[in-house]
Amino acid sequence: MSLSIESKIKLNSGVMIPAIGLGVYQAQSGGETRNAVLHAIKAGYRHIDTAKFYANEKDVAAALRQADVPREHIFIATKLWNDDHGYDKTIKACNESLKRLDLPFVDLYLIHYPVRKLRHESWRALETLQDEGKCRAIGVSNYTIRHMDELLQKSKTVPAVNQVEFHPYLYQKELLEFCDTNNIRMEAYSPLTKGKKLNDPKLEAVAKRYNKSSAQILIRWALQHGLIVIPKSTHAERIRENADVYDFEISPEDMDLLNSFHCNYRVAWDPTNEP
Ligand SMILES: NC(=O)c1ccc[n+]([C@@H]2O[C@H](COP(=O)([O-])OP(=O)(O)OC[C@H]3O[C@@H](n4cnc5c(N)ncnc54)[C@H](OP(=O)(O)O)[C@@H]3O)[C@@H](O)[C@H]2O)c1
Repeated sequence: MSLSIESKIKLNSGVMIPAIGLGVYQAQSGGETRNAVLHAIKAGYRHIDTAKFYANEKDVAAALRQADVPREHIFIATKLWNDDHGYDKTIKACNESLKRLDLPFVDLYLIHYPVRKLRHESWRALETLQDEGKCRAIGVSNYTIRHMDELLQKSKTVPAVNQVEFHPYLYQKELLEFCDTNNIRMEAYSPLTKGKKLNDPKLEAVAKRYNKSSAQILIRWALQHGLIVIPKSTHAERIRENADVYDFEISPEDMDLLNSFHCNYRVAWDPTNEP
């Protein structure tokens, strides 16, 4: 599989998304986020995943202004927070995110979580925002097959992506197949299990075979499954390490082995029972 740090994936709206991005959840507002984004850009990342909830959109903007790379070369994604659902509130929330990001449009706007009752109204607002050119692509996050099915039945627009927790310990195979069938790209969030499984001896044994770190194996595994991957770090050397995954390939046998780690282990939200 020929992957590189410049690899991009075509979304159903025609927009190209860089396959690796920097996540900035829990990067502190101010210098921490700004420096993480600048380190990432220096290391070759061209995609940043933020959200209103992360309270660091304005720091991402500050880094973009400081970076030596034209804005149009960097893919910016942000998200609608749960308190902002409903048609009018969604339009307002997106405009406020654009203001904080100091941008006329974002590359991707996501519904952060399938908030009950209101999520469809909010989706209609995302369609409007896309028509108005304020979002180049629109998508969802934390949607299960049930939530996706409901959306596909009610809407004329197929979401470009579904961003969900995805790593070998939560190998969401059926959801991935569903998304592939419907031309929806999946994005792997918490691809490093927030660091919690990096010392799992089973994973370390695989990493040793490739002379790579556990983090690099997890990122490469998700990329080889065809996902967009958004690891978070605020440390320059880890940001570089997480993008140094293009000089090896996990064998089919080891992909199967990693797949077999699945144990329904979650480090973030479980939307399974969200009505
Ligand atoms: N849509 C959603 O609901 C949702 C939910 C969760 C996350 N996300 C997105 O996905 C991104 C990534 O997920 P995440 O932040 O939950 O977790 P993650 O990327 O799985 O893990 C991040 C943790 O791993 C550490 N780490 C990073 N690289 C490492 C390395 N090479 N070696 C050892 N430790 C390493 C980081 O520490 P340091 O920072 O100290 O290096 C941090 O504690 C988020 O930032 C956010 O953009 C979205």
